[in-house]
Amino acid sequence: QPATRRQFLGLTAAAGLALVSGCSGREPSAAGPPTTGGLRLTAAPMRVDLAGHAVPTWGYGTVPGPEIRLRAGEVLRVQLENELTEDTTVHWHGLAPPNGMDGVPGITQDPVAPGEGFTYEFETPIPGSFMYHAHVGMQLDRGLYGPLVVEPRTEELSYDREYTLMLDDWRDGMDDHAGHAAPAGDTDPDPADTVSFGGRAYPLLLVNGRPPEDPAVLEARAGDRVRLRVMNIAADTGFRFAIAGHRLTVTHTDGMPVEPTTVDALRLGMGERYDVLVDAAAPGGVWQIGVQPEGRGGWGRALLRYTGSDASRAPEVGERPAELAGQLAVYDDLLAREPLALPNGTPDRRYDLVLSGTQIGGQSYPDADPLPVAEGEWVRFTMRNTSAKWHPMHLHGHHFQVLTASGRGPVKDTVAVPARGGEVTFDFLATNPGRWLFHCHNHHHMEDGMVRLVEYG
Ligand code: C2O
Ligand code: CU
Repeated sequence: QPATRRQFLGLTAAAGLALVSGCSGREPSAAGPPTTGGLRLTAAPMRVDLAGHAVPTWGYGTVPGPEIRLRAGEVLRVQLENELTEDTTVHWHGLAPPNGMDGVPGITQDPVAPGEGFTYEFETPIPGSFMYHAHVGMQLDRGLYGPLVVEPRTEELSYDREYTLMLDDWRDGMDDHAGHAAPAGDTDPDPADTVSFGGRAYPLLLVNGRPPEDPAVLEARAGDRVRLRVMNIAADTGFRFAIAGHRLTVTHTDGMPVEPTTVDALRLGMGERYDVLVDAAAPGGVWQIGVQPEGRGGWGRALLRYTGSDASRAPEVGERPAELAGQLAVYDDLLAREPLALPNGTPDRRYDLVLSGTQIGGQSYPDADPLPVAEGEWVRFTMRNTSAKWHPMHLHGHHFQVLTASGRGPVKDTVAVPARGGEVTFDFLATNPGRWLFHCHNHHHMEDGMVRLVEYG
């Protein structure tokens, strides 16, 4: 309600000051961000090494692709080259560029044909942890993705080192799965697909492109405060994330700041990100960073290794952190540090959308009506999920605020709507005109038509 919201807006400033205390003032990336001018991304066939198996796939040179880093207010300028055998584009997941730079083929730009290129160029005023990925068919599922970090002009958080962790599910390349590269656009409807997030065959779970047998190792010194940017880029898998022997202090979700909240584990729908701080206060060993799919079997991991510790003390591949079953970060417990500047009163426009099967509001793309809004409006979406699967719903071009009992729910761009009657409401301000996708970030669901267009301007 308006008064409450105002009150919370007032509180935000004070809470912000509280967070700054304890800041050492150092710049975590003192070396400065790589210059963004002239950066080139080449989408091409490549091989990825999965514990000794050289698996053919598509990527931007490495899987994940190179981390793009820039500073708030800078201009992102990326030259995409397409060396694939089909059209491609790049979408900047979580950023809110002008519509023509959003990377949706046939909607915001012409697809980039094989042998051709396209230059993306736009300002990035808002800091945070974002991702980039191909937005054609199932290309993302093959490895056409990477992390994108926009650093604030002044870092409020104090930490000693930082790592980005991208969580992925992987279809191909191990033993009997070798060579079964799914053709792009293959939606592979699976009658056994009944578990909460997906259920298709994803025999491998990768952290930064590495299988559990050959994990990424994060180094820390005893006493360090480590910042992790955890990102779920999987096509079909929601994850739990935890670190044995350590708790996680959530500072951001989807790049947007929240009041620091300490939990045991995260749950990330596809497309979601969490930034956490971890105090390296359990020295003398190597700790499992566990990544467990929601609603199905399988397992992924990385390692947290204290400098100087004995690598032979590394945990076994399958040893799971007890923290995975501990307290989760949930939307209801998160408080936005920078709530959206919503006006007084009530929303100008509301959409109540039932998510059933892979339909949004009873419609399936492309046979779906656009959802019109008008520039400047305060828009409210309510999603009620009547299906047996979670749907992580993502809105392009905007940040929205999840409506929670506190009135100050987290500001995000992707929100997981629980299965079997789960409901989530969010608000956004229509301040970025264009034709924007609103879709499920389960890429199979998206390919099956779980997409609507939000249009204005
Ligand atoms: Cu990562 Cu259309 O989205
Ligand atoms: Cu879905």
